Amino acid sequence: MKNTEGATAIIIFGVTGDLTHRKLIPALYELLIGKRLPENLSIIGLARRDWDDDAMRYHLGQGIAEFARSKPISNEVVNNLSDRMHYIQSSFNELDGYVKLRKKIENLDVANCLYYLAAPPETYSTIIKQLGAATTSKSSPGWTRIIVEKPYGNDLDSARALDGDVHQVFDESQIYRIDHYLGKETVQNILVFRFANGIFEPLWSRRNVDHIQITVAETVGVGSRAGYYEQSGVIRDMFQNHILQLLALTAMEAPVAFDANAVRDEKLKILKSLRPLTGNDAITNTYRAQYVAGFIDGQRVLGYKDEVGVNPASTTETYLAARLNIDNWRWAGVPFYIRSGKRLPRRVTEIDIHFNHVPLPLFGWKNLAGDAPNVLSLNIQPDEGITLTFGAKAPGPLNEIAPVKMHFDYEKTFGGEPPEAYERLLLDCLNGDATLFTRTDEVQAAWAFTTDILNAWKSSPVSNLPVYEAGTWGPVGAEDLISSQDSHTWHMPD
Ligand code: BG6
Repeated sequence: MKNTEGATAIIIFGVTGDLTHRKLIPALYELLIGKRLPENLSIIGLARRDWDDDAMRYHLGQGIAEFARSKPISNEVVNNLSDRMHYIQSSFNELDGYVKLRKKIENLDVANCLYYLAAPPETYSTIIKQLGAATTSKSSPGWTRIIVEKPYGNDLDSARALDGDVHQVFDESQIYRIDHYLGKETVQNILVFRFANGIFEPLWSRRNVDHIQITVAETVGVGSRAGYYEQSGVIRDMFQNHILQLLALTAMEAPVAFDANAVRDEKLKILKSLRPLTGNDAITNTYRAQYVAGFIDGQRVLGYKDEVGVNPASTTETYLAARLNIDNWRWAGVPFYIRSGKRLPRRVTEIDIHFNHVPLPLFGWKNLAGDAPNVLSLNIQPDEGITLTFGAKAPGPLNEIAPVKMHFDYEKTFGGEPPEAYERLLLDCLNGDATLFTRTDEVQAAWAFTTDILNAWKSSPVSNLPVYEAGTWGPVGAEDLISSQDSHTWHMPD
């Protein structure tokens, strides 16, 4: 492993929170099992809660028991990880806490520091300023990096302001902005599939592609996160980051090399080529809705407005569909339809490439697949794989074409589930590889596009959003969005 000379510390701000418990510590546990962590690694947590080292070890041990991927749990590995944990109790604005942190780093003789902002986003600027003021960010002789969780700002101005604060203390090359979708194996496979295979790339353009659909459907509701979600909605929670990243990876040109800057340069070009949606264009090319009570897996679930912490008059969208265009040479004229929502019937993330139709009527042939003769589906989760749908002659005397499928199943082929995104992302950051993290210009380009839509929505406020029943595929209006201009229909995931 590169860059691990000397002791390393991962310093987690917000170590008592959900993310650390569910994702970060279980990911470190898996990495430790795989012997991928630096030999001399400490984990230092800083948070307000009245914990000490033992409490941190106990609580995070519970997180491993509940959320680790590899079962049964190895006590030996849990103990090994626990022995590395240290807790500092402090509020995020108390300079004294950072001075204690600096001393801890010095006492542990740490050379390399990875700071992890897993705290509420409104505390980011304070934490960074205090790290700078206590010169904690400069106290180790090796490398220093910082991982910043999403949301990275809540519009273009706030993202720029946050960047300004972060750049006061850290250089861009030290900043690792997380979009955990980029850590998913099957998301990385988009690029491998496209650029490691000779047969698909020549088809990947307006010459052969009719349109592209990206679906990110969730069964979960807002859960205990109403405070955050009310201010966010799908557009900030999923669209500005995960969905635009999936779109950029699907549409980008081949990078000149497979390294952080080359890959991010190409994604940036796509984000900048998105045709801006402003004013009325934003209204007619997006469709928002909110879930009402319904059934998920046979269980009755509450409507959004009845969830704890949600304003009963809320107009926050829990579903968004949009029609986007990429105005570049490869994609001119090819619509990209995206949709994402909470409380949909199935958890599924999928990218569907719909290829051009052939003139079957010339032969008097009928395609039973209707609108979708050839579709290549990249199944990102939960059934990771790739499916190609094509037409075959249906048995019998009539010339009818039936849709059939060729399917690659990740689990059957490679055995086992792919690793968790956070395992890969933590490891890459420890190794100094920023390819799967977002760069400042990318984040700002995504916010610039998203903020135009937000501004248009703000100028045409709605008092009641359209609704959809929990457990259904979304509102009728989303069907109209895709069918009205181009007579397409949403692809039904398998
Ligand atoms: C997060 C969002 O970024 O992604 C959540 O804040 C969402 O609202 C989650 O549920 C989905 O991630 P995944 O990996 O379960 O698809």
